Amino acid sequence: MDKFILRGGEPLLGTVHISGAKNAALPCMAAALLTDQPVILENVPQVRDIQTTRNLLAAMGAEVELGYGRAQHRTSIHCATLNAPEASYELVKTMRASTLVLGPLVARCGHARVSLPGGCAIGARPIDLHIKGLEKLGAKITQEHGYVEASTGRLKGAEIVFDKITVTGTEDLLMAATLAEGETILQNCAREPEVADLAALLNKMGAKIEGAGTPTIRIKGVSKLKGAKHRIIPDRIEAGTFIIAGAMTGGDLNIAGCDPTHLDALLSKLHEVGVKTKCTADSVRVMGDNPFTATDMSTEEHPGFPTDCQAQFMALATQAEGTSIITENIFENRFMHAQELVRMGANIKIEGRRAVVRGKTPLSAAAVLASDLRASASLVLAALVADGETIIDRVYHIDRGYEHIEEKLKGVGAQIRRIGEMFPKKAAAVR
Ligand code: UD1
Repeated sequence: MDKFILRGGEPLLGTVHISGAKNAALPCMAAALLTDQPVILENVPQVRDIQTTRNLLAAMGAEVELGYGRAQHRTSIHCATLNAPEASYELVKTMRASTLVLGPLVARCGHARVSLPGGCAIGARPIDLHIKGLEKLGAKITQEHGYVEASTGRLKGAEIVFDKITVTGTEDLLMAATLAEGETILQNCAREPEVADLAALLNKMGAKIEGAGTPTIRIKGVSKLKGAKHRIIPDRIEAGTFIIAGAMTGGDLNIAGCDPTHLDALLSKLHEVGVKTKCTADSVRVMGDNPFTATDMSTEEHPGFPTDCQAQFMALATQAEGTSIITENIFENRFMHAQELVRMGANIKIEGRRAVVRGKTPLSAAAVLASDLRASASLVLAALVADGETIIDRVYHIDRGYEHIEEKLKGVGAQIRRIGEMFPKKAAAVR
C-alpha cells in the first residue's frame, strides 16, 4: 500500500489546476448505459473510482475507450449491447456509487442485478430511497443473497417525493425516468451541481428534463436516447481542498479551472475564519493571512456547506484561535480523521454529531492512517503545516478521488513524496 511522506512548513505558491468532478463523472458514465450509441465524456478525472466504473461498465459488455496523451481525460463509452446487466459485490464494495447503474440498467434492459453496498467508514449508506423510487416507476424489486434484483417492462412515469435528500438517489431515478413512459416528477431532490451536470448530459442525449439543480425535477419520458459529447464540470471538492491548503500554509495560491459559484457556502465560511480570497469566473486566489478565528460550521445538503469538505475544514479549525463547533448532519460517523488529527497535536472532542475543536494548537508530524477519501485529505492538510515529516498510510483512499494530488502539491511548493509497498524499509528509515 502506498504512503505519503510530507514535510510541513512550506507556503503553497503558484497555480494549481482543478480536475473534472469525480462525483459528476460517475453518474455521467452510468448514463451511457441508457443508449446504444457512444457517449463521449471530456474532463474525466484520472482517479481510482473512475477506473472502477470503467471496469464495471466493461464487465457488462460496454466498449470503454480512453484517450492518450493530451486526450487522456477523454473517455468514450459505447453500450451497443449489454449482455450482463449486473454489478458484483467485488466492485460495489470498493465504490458505493456503483449503485448508480441500477436505474439506467432497469430502464434500458428491463432487468438489473446490483450488489447492496453495505456500510462504510462514514456511515450506513442505505439505498432504500433508490429502491422505493424505482418501485414507484413500476419495477419489481427483490433482495436476496446481498443483491438487489429489479425487473420490469417499460417503466411508467410517477410522482416521487424523496423522504430524505439523496444525491445519487436523485441521479439514479433521474436516469431511470428518462426512458419511462409519460411524465415523472421528482420532489425534494438533491440540488448539487453534479445533478445539474448529469441532466445537461441527458438532455444532450435527447432526454426532456427540467428543473435539475432545484428541489423539483420534471422528466418527460422518451422511447430512446442517443449518443452525445459532454464536458464534466470542475471538481468543487478538490478546489475547496486546495483553497484550504493555500490558506493554512500562509501561501498565495491560484486555484485555476474551478467554478466559484459552486463554492459559495465554503468561501463564506472561510471568510468568517479570516481567509482572504479573490474570485474570477473560473479561478479562486487564496491569500493565507493568519491568524484565523474559530467559527462554528454545520454540514448541509447543497447549497449548504458540503460534508465532503468537513474534514478539511476541521484541519483548518485546529489552526484558528478559539473554539469551533463542527456539526455533521449528513453522515453519522464522519469524524474518523479527528482521532488522527489529535495524534498530531490537535485538541478535538467528539460529542455525537458534534466535534469541538479548540485552537490554535501547533501540529507535529506523526504516522497517521487515512480512513476514507476526505479524511485522507484533512491529514494531508494537517501535515502541510506540521512540524517535521508526517507519514500518511493507506493513501489508496485519496487516490479514489484526487487526481495526482502529490504532483499538484509538489508543483506549488509542498515537500511530498509517495512511496510504494515495495520500499517498506525506506519508509521505516524516514520515520
Ligand atoms: C454523494 C456523494 C458523496 C457525498 C454525499 C453527500 C457521489 C458519488 N457521492 O453520496 O461524495 O458525501 O453525496 O453529499 O456523488 N440515504 C438514505 N437512503 C438512501 C440514500 C441515502 O437514508 O437510499 C441517506 C444516507 O445514509 C445519508 C444521506 O441520505 O445519510 C445522504 O446520502 P446521499 O446523498 O445519498 O449520499 P451519496 O449519494 O451516497
